[in-house]
Amino acid sequence: MILAGGQGTRLRPLTLARAKPVVPVLNRPFLAHQLALLRAHGVVDAILACSYRVDDVRAALGGAEHLGVTLRYVVEKEPLGTGGGVANAADLASGTIFVLNGDVLTDADLTAMRRRHEAQGSRATIFLTRVSDPRQYGLVETDAEGRLRAFREKPAAGEPITTDTINAGVYLLDAALLHGIPRDRPVSIEREVFPALIADGVPCFGWEAEAYWRDIGTPAAYHAAQMDLLEGRARLLLPPPGEPREGSWIGTGGTAAADARVVAPSVIGARVTLAAGCRVGPSAVVGDGSTIGPDARVEGAVLWERVDLGRGAVLRDCVLGADVRIGAHARVGAGVVLESGAVIPERTTLTRDDAS
Ligand code: GTP
Repeated sequence: MILAGGQGTRLRPLTLARAKPVVPVLNRPFLAHQLALLRAHGVVDAILACSYRVDDVRAALGGAEHLGVTLRYVVEKEPLGTGGGVANAADLASGTIFVLNGDVLTDADLTAMRRRHEAQGSRATIFLTRVSDPRQYGLVETDAEGRLRAFREKPAAGEPITTDTINAGVYLLDAALLHGIPRDRPVSIEREVFPALIADGVPCFGWEAEAYWRDIGTPAAYHAAQMDLLEGRARLLLPPPGEPREGSWIGTGGTAAADARVVAPSVIGARVTLAAGCRVGPSAVVGDGSTIGPDARVEGAVLWERVDLGRGAVLRDCVLGADVRIGAHARVGAGVVLESGAVIPERTTLTRDDAS
């Protein structure tokens, strides 16, 4: 079960145009990467708990047959939160189920997680990961056997931090537990459901693993996750669309001038035009139908669909939504995020401070 109904406020302005679970990651909807991980660990049935912008999710993923997974959508009339969302879909679930936040990129060994869950007689197992600054996450304390002792969501400033181990947003649950969660009001799985299970003495364990993990829920993390996949810090379970060529992926139906260069690792979508003298890469992701103008440069940048770069434009380490137009000789610098449809006039220079 994947929680895919949040508003994604931290990822604005990108989520004003598209729901967070299906923002493009290397030119595929994000959840396709998650479904590939689940499929690699034997999951063939997935339930999407949706609410906000469900039509985006359906349009991007459909039935997901091409990923070898059958998808079912359960839509909340009003957002029910992470716990309520799971409870609302409980009638479709039985046995032991993985529950994932729909914004977590990981290559964790879910098979090992399941083995551990079974061996310990756990009814709720939480994937735990360590981060250098745990404050913005849910902190989890365990005893020497890995049993959960306390669960603290996003501690307030000034509150002492007792652990760097956080809730990674991937759970393995006995589906019977879902029937105990109220369905008629918003409920947080982190703030309400897990603390109640611990208080009731239900066997709940943490599972720590050496694995790549990132919550893609902010613009910086969304950008960094794609650089990690391209540059090999995260394992790529689902290659980008297009034909692999010299360390990059090149989509179909495009045109490239003889002296246009693609520098690996990069992803070029379908029907992309690369004009004379342009250089794309390293670490560039260009969405379908985009045009890179003559002598333009794109490095470390993520472009959604139909972006149009004018002559001599320079993009570095930024994110551009769909249908953005960048005028000739304009420069867009590190950390800038432009919402879909933005138009940047010729010779403008945008840095992160301008954007915020
Ligand atoms: P922010 O607003 O930026 O915090 O993002 P978010 O709305 O996605 O919230 P958060 O990151 O805390 O949510 C964690 C996961 O739960 C995400 O995958 C969300 O899509 C999902 N989620 C959050 N709220 C709901 C909800 O009301 N219903 C459902 N079905 N999923 C939710």
